[in-house]
Amino acid sequence: MLVALLLLLALSNALIVYGDVEQCGLNPKLDPRPHSVSILEFGAVGDGKTLNTIAFQNAIFYLKSFADKGGAQLYLPPGQWLTGSFNLTSHLTLFLEKGAVIIGSQDPSHWDVIEPLPSYGRGKDVPEGRHKSLINGYKLEDVVITGNNGTIDGMGMIWWDLYNSHSLNHSRPHLVEIISSNFVVVSNLTFLNAPAYSIHPVYCSNVHIQNISISTPPDSPYTVGIVPDSSDNVCIEDCIVSMGFDAISLKSGWDEYGLTYGRPTEKVHIRRVHLHAFSGSALSFGSEMSGGISNVLVEHVKIFNSNSGIEFRTTKGRGGYIKEIAISNIEMENVYTAIGAKGDCGSHPDDKFDPKAFPLLNHITLKDIIGKNITIAGSFEGIKESPFTNICLSNVTLSTNNVSPITWECSNVSGFSDSVLPEPCQELHNASYSSSSSSSCFYLMSLGRKTAGF
Ligand SMILES: *[C@@H]1O[C@H](CO)[C@@H](O)[C@H](O)[C@H]1NC(C)=O
Ligand SMILES: *[C@@H]1O[C@H](CO)[C@@H](O)[C@H](O)[C@H]1NC(C)=O
Ligand SMILES: *[C@@H]1O[C@H](CO)[C@@H](O)[C@H](O)[C@H]1NC(C)=O
Ligand SMILES: *[C@@H]1O[C@H](CO)[C@@H](O)[C@H](O)[C@H]1NC(C)=O
Ligand SMILES: *[C@@H]1O[C@H](CO)[C@@H](O)[C@H](O)[C@H]1NC(C)=O
Ligand SMILES: *[C@@H]1O[C@H](CO)[C@@H](O)[C@H](O)[C@H]1NC(C)=O
Ligand SMILES: *[C@@H]1O[C@H](CO)[C@@H](O)[C@H](O)[C@H]1NC(C)=O
Ligand SMILES: *[C@@H]1O[C@H](CO)[C@@H](O)[C@H](O)[C@H]1NC(C)=O
Ligand SMILES: *[C@@H]1O[C@H](CO)[C@@H](O)[C@H](O)[C@H]1NC(C)=O
Repeated sequence: MLVALLLLLALSNALIVYGDVEQCGLNPKLDPRPHSVSILEFGAVGDGKTLNTIAFQNAIFYLKSFADKGGAQLYLPPGQWLTGSFNLTSHLTLFLEKGAVIIGSQDPSHWDVIEPLPSYGRGKDVPEGRHKSLINGYKLEDVVITGNNGTIDGMGMIWWDLYNSHSLNHSRPHLVEIISSNFVVVSNLTFLNAPAYSIHPVYCSNVHIQNISISTPPDSPYTVGIVPDSSDNVCIEDCIVSMGFDAISLKSGWDEYGLTYGRPTEKVHIRRVHLHAFSGSALSFGSEMSGGISNVLVEHVKIFNSNSGIEFRTTKGRGGYIKEIAISNIEMENVYTAIGAKGDCGSHPDDKFDPKAFPLLNHITLKDIIGKNITIAGSFEGIKESPFTNICLSNVTLSTNNVSPITWECSNVSGFSDSVLPEPCQELHNASYSSSSSSSCFYLMSLGRKTAGF
């Protein structure tokens, strides 16, 4: 009795850490802005040919003066609003009416070149600086990008061609990048053809991404949908994301730069999303994860026609951790590798990384997963000096298509499993799984109930 009580206490203690992810429960309260102006009032022309960068800059400069008066809305009526990069401001709502399309300029000189992010130390594609994103935020408070299914189209083709032909002088821009900001909402819009990432919140808190659809063509190189990066309290819900590379990727900085910057991605809740990742992974963690990734809850996800379903990526030299991740209620169909964890993934920013900075991968729970037409059920390749531990699989049924004779690959990994088909590798077979003394597997079932594991 006493033992049970102590155990319960131990469990609930552990769960305080895990149970803190309630982001999607906290719907942002969106008061209508007391002031609204149309981009037309700033001389913008929605013919798809006139460059409207100055109109956007002037409109937002004007709306800055309403920041302390409840904020303001910039309204985009139907039209094709061609523009180069522009900045948002605090207490602003950018609203795209049905039929309004923001179109990124096809001239790279309309996308300024800026410093690399401190947690990356260099550009991703090429070491020299990087192009500024189409829509930017820096040190903002309370910013909303929404509409009535308007569209933001990055016209990424020129950038994909430059990437593929190794002709980039600077790393590719993203579609939307919000840096060091608090209370960010992105909702009710369609995002197309991002040059690289579509939505990139970096060093942000309280980010709510809801009811958007994002896509790039299958052959677009390394295009990613939503990338929460060194950010906390993030909710992503009711979205459809279909990308050339990864659909949703959680990151937190690159090797020595990420370790020095030291800002994790944590308290992330992802639910009710449909993901398709042509050459990458529908849901990925890393490979840049030096600031750490923890306390992530993922539930009710549909993954289809993807190279990989769920993938954890890291490598020696990264440091950092990926831990306390709970993933449940996942349906997959036509996926090559359903679940993967790679300890040798991704390159280094330069040769100044510490090869002894071993990353940790620990306490990952994957539960209630069903898959059809899967080739590899699971591939876990840990790091010899820092094996992946406490990988917990429960109620996982993956129908494999017999394309490969191997359905599980495991090395330098240990964990527990219960009701997993096909039968997992020995390393994930720890018999103490179902015994009550195993406090190694915890998961969050649902947000409301901060429930314990097995
Ligand atoms: C946009 O914001 C950046 C800071 O991120 C700043 O350096 C730049 O001057 C701003 N541009 C305009 C036009 O306000
Ligand atoms: C999602 O956004 C569309 C417009 O893009 C809107 O018509 C629909 O009502 C929204 N749904 C929810 C649940 O917000
Ligand atoms: C939103 O717009 C996109 C692109 O214009 C369209 O494909 C989609 O069907 C629209 N969705 C809704 C809910 O109206
Ligand atoms: C890259 O730099 C070269 C040489 O300055 C220039 O000719 C070329 O237009 C630049 N390309 C881009 C995409 O900016
Ligand atoms: C999205 O659209 C729905 C339906 O029009 C509306 O109820 C909701 O408030 C919108 N979301 C945001 C964040 O504007
Ligand atoms: C099974 O999935 C693969 C992708 O891994 C796809 O190429 C193939 O067409 C799918 N087969 C069926 C019967 O849907
Ligand atoms: C196993 O997972 C499936 C969904 O993948 C779910 O429908 C079923 O109820 C789960 N079974 C148990 C015993 O939890
Ligand atoms: C770790 O992986 C390496 C390379 O795959 C392998 O040689 C080694 O035996 C593994 N170590 C353990 C403890 O499984
Ligand atoms: C099985 O799990 C228990 C509890 O975490 C641990 O002490 C033991 O070393 C594990 N055994 C193996 C073979 O991994």
